[in-house]
Parts: sequence; structure tokens; C-alpha cells
Amino acid sequence: MKTVRDYIRTIPDFPHEGIMFRDVTTLFGDARGFRMAIDQLLHPYAGTPIDKVVGLEARGFILGGAIAHQMSVGFVPIRKKGKLPGKTVEQAYQLEYGEAVMELHDDALQPGEKVLLVDDLLATGGTAEAGIRLIERLGAQVTGCAFVIDLPELGGARRLQNLGMQVHSLCA
Ligand code: PRP
Ligand code: ADE
Repeated sequence: MKTVRDYIRTIPDFPHEGIMFRDVTTLFGDARGFRMAIDQLLHPYAGTPIDKVVGLEARGFILGGAIAHQMSVGFVPIRKKGKLPGKTVEQAYQLEYGEAVMELHDDALQPGEKVLLVDDLLATGGTAEAGIRLIERLGAQVTGCAFVIDLPELGGARRLQNLGMQVHSLCA
């Protein structure tokens, strides 16, 4: 029986030399693999009140949309700077390979709303931390952070746990 990890391929030296890129397009492209990933990401939150799913650009949109649909809640995107048309809050962050700015529409979440943050992969945790800061800036609360892949050697899970976050991932 195949596991989620079996559907993910690793491509060396993308987008830069020395990066072992975890490619989840092969997971998303397989009906069984994709359903297995969504079901497993949902599992820890059965019975937990969630008001919105927030997905991080870009692969967090694919996962987050499917999870929000399954939970019957709304989906909210956090995007790279310059992509959202309305008024936004923004947050700069460091990546495993670079630096960027993320944005969230300033009316996308209401104070007190409970949010599930979703992305494909947790590396240094810089992207997820930027997402958490944006969500909290609107007065909403991050109930959990869900990832398909955690790269533990980069310390992202510890970083988010140190912020008081509940972190779930499906494979390393
Ligand atoms: C990848 C991944 C996460 C982030 C994780 O996205 O999808 O969002 O890196 O890295 P971190 O934990 O070190 O912050 P990427 O920045 O490649 O953007 P993309 O999804 O738009 O391609
Ligand atoms: N984001 C940061 N590091 C990554 C990696 N190794 N594979 C895919 N996405 C990433």
C-alpha cells in the first residue's frame, strides 16, 4: 500500500544548486494520492472548530481549497506581494533560498475567527511564521498548521511550536 510520501518526488538542484526540491505535483496529480493527503491533513482536526482555511501561495492553495471544501468553510489566500487587489497587510520573511513579502487582504478574517493554516512544505518555517503574523494581525487565531512535508533538519516545526502553534505534517 502506497503512502503519501511515495507519491512525492525529489528533484536535485531546483531552483538553485544544492536544494533538494520536494515536488508535490506528482502527489496532486494522482487521484488516490491527493485524496489520501487531504484525508490525512483533515484527520487531526475532526471535531475541532475551524472558521476559515488559509493557504500559503502557491501549493497551499491547492491543498487549502480542497480542505476548506471538505470542512465546508471559506478559503483565504496569503499571496506573494503585488497579487492581491484589495487593501492588504504585509509581512517580509526569509526563505530557504531567498527573501520575499507576503500579503493578506485586511478584511479576509474577522477578529476571533479560528484558522487552519495550510501549505505543502515546512522548511525553515519563515513562510508559515509570516502567515501566522498576518493572520494574528487581523485578530484571528491560528488553531493549527498543517503540512504535507516537514524538513526537520531546517527547524521549521520547532520554530512554529516555539510560537505556541500546533503543527501537523504527513511525512519528512
Ligand atoms: C515553498 C513551500 C513553502 C515554503 C517553505 O514555497 O511551498 O511555502 O517554500 O519554506 P520555509 O519553511 O523555509 O519558509 P516557495 O517559497 O517555493 O513558493 P511557491 O510555492 O510560490 O513556489
Ligand atoms: N521550499 C523550501 N525548501 C523547499 C524544498 N526543499 N522543496 C520544496 N519546496 C521548498
